[in-house]
Order: sequence, then C-alpha cells, then structure tokens
Amino acid sequence: MIYQGKAIQVHALNDGYAELIFDLQGESINKLSTAVILELGEAVAAIQAKNDIKGLMLSSAKDAFIVGADITEFHGIFGESEEFLVEMNQKVHALFNAIEDLPFPTVTAINGLALGGGCEMLLTTDFRVMADSAKIGLPETKLGIIPGWGGCVRLPRLIGADNAIEWIAGGTENKADAALKVGAVDAVVSKDKLRDAALDILAEANAGHLNWQARRDQKKSPLRLNSIESMMVFETAKGFVAGKAGPHYPAPVEAIKAIQKGATQSREKAQETEAKAFAKMAKTDVCFNLVGLFLNDQLVKKKASTYEKQSQPIKKSAVLGAGIMGGGVAYQSASKGTPIMMKDINEAALQLGLKEASKLLGKQVERKKITPAQMAETLGRIRPTLSYGDFADVELTVEAVVENPKVKAAVLAELEDKVAEDAIITSNTSTISITGLAKNLKRPENFCGMHFFNPVHRMPLVEVIRGEKSSEKAIAATVTYAKQMGKTPIVVNDCPGFLVNRVLFPYFGGFIGLVEHGADFRHVDKVMEKFGWPMGPAYLLDVVGLDTAVHANDVMAEGFPDRMKRDGKTVLNVMYEGGRLGQKNDTGFYKYEEDRKGKPKKVNDETTDALIKPLVKETRELTDEQIIARMMVPLCLETVRCLEDKIVETPAEADMALIYGIGFPPFRGGALRYIDAMGVKAFVELADSLAELGPLYTVTDPLRAMAEKGERFYA
Ligand SMILES: NC(=O)c1ccc[n+]([C@@H]2O[C@H](COP(=O)([O-])OP(=O)(O)OC[C@H]3O[C@@H](n4cnc5c(N)ncnc54)[C@H](O)[C@@H]3O)[C@@H](O)[C@H]2O)c1
Repeated sequence: MIYQGKAIQVHALNDGYAELIFDLQGESINKLSTAVILELGEAVAAIQAKNDIKGLMLSSAKDAFIVGADITEFHGIFGESEEFLVEMNQKVHALFNAIEDLPFPTVTAINGLALGGGCEMLLTTDFRVMADSAKIGLPETKLGIIPGWGGCVRLPRLIGADNAIEWIAGGTENKADAALKVGAVDAVVSKDKLRDAALDILAEANAGHLNWQARRDQKKSPLRLNSIESMMVFETAKGFVAGKAGPHYPAPVEAIKAIQKGATQSREKAQETEAKAFAKMAKTDVCFNLVGLFLNDQLVKKKASTYEKQSQPIKKSAVLGAGIMGGGVAYQSASKGTPIMMKDINEAALQLGLKEASKLLGKQVERKKITPAQMAETLGRIRPTLSYGDFADVELTVEAVVENPKVKAAVLAELEDKVAEDAIITSNTSTISITGLAKNLKRPENFCGMHFFNPVHRMPLVEVIRGEKSSEKAIAATVTYAKQMGKTPIVVNDCPGFLVNRVLFPYFGGFIGLVEHGADFRHVDKVMEKFGWPMGPAYLLDVVGLDTAVHANDVMAEGFPDRMKRDGKTVLNVMYEGGRLGQKNDTGFYKYEEDRKGKPKKVNDETTDALIKPLVKETRELTDEQIIARMMVPLCLETVRCLEDKIVETPAEADMALIYGIGFPPFRGGALRYIDAMGVKAFVELADSLAELGPLYTVTDPLRAMAEKGERFYA
C-alpha cells in the first residue's frame, strides 16, 4: 500500500505499476470535494516519493468513475472573492499538472460516469481506456460556470477546438463510441476487460511501443491553428452558441472565450486564463441560481425516491379518456415501458389517441432515436378499449375524462367497482378538489390527484395531490408511476388550483390589471419573454386555451374570493365570449397560421385591440420594470402563501414545480429564490408600493415578519 485515505487508495501492482483508486467511504459515488482534493494531493506526493514506479493507473471502485466536484459546496465556496477562487483553482491546476508530469506513463480506466471534475481528472493521464457503457462530459456550463480544473485547456488540445467547444458549450454527456471517435479516449472495451486493457497500455508504453512522451507533449502544447482556422472555429461558435444559449446564460460563450485565449498559451498560462474566467462566472447570480436549481432538483429526487421505496413498481396501468391528456399519458407510459389500457366511451377518440401516439413515435423513428420495431413494441403496450373487461389486474388508473365534476363522479365510482380492492385510482383534474372527488368513492384512501401538464410527453412535472383521505400508500404508488414515466413528481396538498395553477392565476391577475391600465399585451409579452419566460402571458393564455383559462379562473375566484374574485368582465372573459379560444381555434390574443412544419405560428392580430379597448379604465405609462413587478409580485406572493398554507412542503419543491410546470425562468431559480435574490425586505417594499392594485399585492404577515428579521427562504 502506497497511500490509504478516506477516498483514495494507492496500491503497488505487479510489474512496478501503481493503481490510484477512487473509493469514497460511506458514499455510493465518488466526488471531488475539498477534502478529496486534499487527499489527492497527499496521494500524489506519496507516489512522487517512490522512485520505483513504472506506470500509474487511475481507477474507481464505484459504479461511476467520478461524478464531479461536490456541488453542495459550491454556494459556500462561490461566496468567496474572485481572487480566492482563482487561487483555489490554481492550486488544483498545480496538483493535476503534477499528475500529468509524473515521470512514467499514466492511464485512466474509465469504468462509468465521469463528469465535470471527474472528466478533467481523466484528462490528466497520457491514455484513457473506457468501458463501453461509460459516459464522459463537462456539464459545467449548465451550472453557469465553465470547466475550471483544466477542461478548457486539455480537452481542446486532445480532441480539437471544434469538438471541445461542442462538448463544453453543450454540456453533453458523451457515450464511449462518440468519445473514441473524436479521440477523447484511446480504446473502448467491455467493463470486464477494462483493467487488463489499461494495464496493457502501460506495458506497451514501457516497452516503447507507444510513445507516451509524445502524447503528453501534444496535450501540453498550444493548439496549432492558423488565424483563419481560428476565426472560423471560434467566431462562428461564439455566434451560434450565443444564439442558442440566449442572453441569460453567459457561461457557454465565456467557455469558448477561455478556450480561444488559452489555445495559443502555454499550459500554465492557459490555466490561469481558465481560472479567471471560471471565477468571473462563479460570481454571477445566474450561477448561484443554477447551482440552487441543481440542489433543489436533488432534494426533489430524494423525496421521490423515499416514496418509491414504499411502493412496488406499477406493472399495469390504465387511463380513462383518450383525449389530449389521456392520449398523452398512454403514450408516455408505453414509451417508458409500462403497459397501459386506454379506455374511452368513443371509438373515434381511441383512434385519435392512438394516432397521436403513432405520430410522436414516428418522429422518433425519423430521427433514428428508436427503430421501427421499438415503435411497434411501444404501440403494443397501449391497449385501446371501450369496456372495463381487463381492468381486474390494473394497479393504477389515471382518470382523464372531461373536466366535469358530475361526469368524473360517475366515472370514478364506476371504475372503483371494476378494479381490485387495493388498486390505486388517480385523477388528472386541473380544477376539481381531490378531497371532493374522493367522496364518490368507497375507498377514498386509495385515491389521489395525478396532475400532468400539456403536452404530457414534453412537460416534466407531475403534481401528485394528497386529498384529506389519500393514504401514503396511494401517494407512494403514484409517485412511483410518475417516475416510471420519466417525470418529476412533486407531492402537494389539495386546494383550488393545487400548487401550480394556484400560483399561475394570480400572475394572470397581474396581466389582467395591466391590460386595464392600457398596457399593450404584445409589449407585456415581450417584456416577460426578455425577463426569461418561454412565452409572455397573452401568448401563454392562447396556448392554454381561453375557455380553459376562464373556467380555471372562475374556480380560483371561488376558492380564494378575497383576492382572486373580480367584479365585471376581465380580458379573459371578453376574449372567450368573442369566440377566441386561442391556439385551438387559431384565434386568441394573436392569430395562428400553420408554419412549414405544420406547427401553429403566432401572427399579429390588429382586431384584438378593439375587443380589449372597452376594458381599459385608465391609461398609465409603465416602464418595463413596473410591468415585471406587476406580473411577478402576485405570482411570488401566492407561492409564499402556498408554503405558509403547507400546500407544498419546502421552498425547493415550490420553486422546482414552477420551473418544471410552467417554465419559470430556470436561471432565476424559482419564485422564492427570486424573492431571496431581491431580498425579502426589498420584495416586501416593492409589493407594498403596489398595494393600491388590490389584494393580489397584499403581503402576508409571516412574510413581513421574515423581512423584519432579515430571514430568507433558503439558508
Ligand atoms: N388539456 C390540458 O391542457 C389539461 C392539462 C392538465 C389537466 N387536464 C385535465 O385532463 C382531463 C382531460 O382533459 P383533456 O384536455 O384531455 O380533454 P379531452 O376533451 O381532450 O378528452 C376527454 C376524453 O374523455 C372521454 N370521455 C368522456 N367521458 C368518458 C367516460 N365516461 N369514460 C371514458 N372516457 C370518457 C372523451 O370521449 C374524450 O376523449 C380534464 O380533467 C382536464 O382538466 C387538461
């Protein structure tokens, strides 16, 4: 034994080789925390102190190689000064350089996932052998930073600037064959042959059959690009990547700039360039929020997995209603491998549901994501039916029939008689109380809400709604099924609108008020899109459908009359009564035409203004900041109320639900993170300044108390 730590061991092998094994005690994965990096320093010193080593192999004793740095440390560390961060990375550079400079050949045996710092680690060795099932990549830009432990320096020197930009700016996880193709690794073998293959390379290098010194020199030398090539590669990439990432995500372009500047520099100089760019990005709000998002996502996943442990996988499911949502649920279940019965009362609806599923699968075949055989297999998992004949062994059913309490009551009662005693029944209702619907059932404990978003295949969130009588078993099974479908389930308690719609409608309330104060809806859309929403509120209402929006708004007004009920007609009513349903009949705030791909394209409709005009009570001059405040404050305050009312358990779940359910701008981290970023006190002052706009802008007492005590939602 050459070195023994808590995360790293170094063993002497036969033939004079040494093996440095990453094996973090007490964890199922390897990560490079501050403590592990310190150990690595000790391990490398121990290796350097030996003078009889002929080669070094890096390996992992876990399923993954190294999943990256320890992201839970980021908020703390990134709170330090820029100078501190530069120095911190420079220390890691010195350590990684020491590995790269060891006086004998080195190789990494990549047995599994190697991301971020884990990928940068394996770039230090002369050679890399990769298991065919492993993946490597540098996803740092997704967290608003750039690779900071040499990724921006070593990867381009190894695989070329163009490929490195693609990997780094895209943050992709790359499979073994792709890695081999660009030269990121030297060989790909099956996992059981990995060690032998890596040791063979050391033997070949020692025998002089592989010129490891030349390989090393190449990786350490500046890139050889002439100025035209350089311009082609870097300038084109910057333009393309900037367009793709959008103005709110600076890291991908910053990474390209660091690669570009470092390309002609010595290794050490290029690493300094990288460290400076890294520190700059680490200090941005975007990075803070994206790291927060990652941590929130971890928490949401952890909660789901706690539920999953309490349930068996769902082997057979069913959906009632083959409409927009039912069809989507059937497709999603089948494509993720769970057989599903799809029942409707109408043969034409069943055919339409199947046709939609075929269309989605057909597109994947076209894009070569699946084979025609896989498409057939998936379709085979959807069993259309008009009867309850085969429902006896259905373990979980999603009711997705028309949004009508009487119809749902009858359908749920009927279903309960056809399924087994312990079968779970869920409803995809958007507006009807889960506790209320449960009253139609003999076994209300087996019932809860399972609220999908449209389109089901694309929207990641599933709200799992706990009614008064829902059992934890029902919740656990529903969470498990949502996970099986590849979705992110978040458990909330029952109330009008549940979590997501309850928060969304006050935001529309802000929009309604703006229109009444003479704001042009097109301008409001532009401002909110610039703020980071995927679509502005008018456009979003068109997509949701004005009929649906009016109905849901009424439900919300009834549920929370003190702040959501309004006298007289709103712009939603006027649009709806004017026959404008939005995208579904090609006319709403905007008109919709088919584009060349057959998708609805939004075009301006000048006749909308005449419809809206009678609603304008007074015309106010509003700045973009005022528009943002008038839209965001009601949404944020309602999120706060949901937390206070225990509709949702944690700030993390509330924020993730908004990001996954309605496209809240991810780089802003969610409504509560947004309040934190502004400061609770400043937010309260902002809301107070808008108090004349009505109760949607009223600050709750607990929030006021938080402001006074200087508290935040996130520690
Ligand atoms: N469309 C959305 O954006 C959206 C989003 C989330 C939730 N939801 C909810 O999902 C549910 C379905 O909405 P949709 O938009 O898919 O409606 P839809 O009108 O497209 O489909 C409803 C389907 O139910 C069928 N149906 C009616 N009675 C039935 C019965 N007794 N047994 C079996 N099938 C029956 C109809 O034939 C129709 O095919 C509603 O509760 C709705 O609130 C909709």
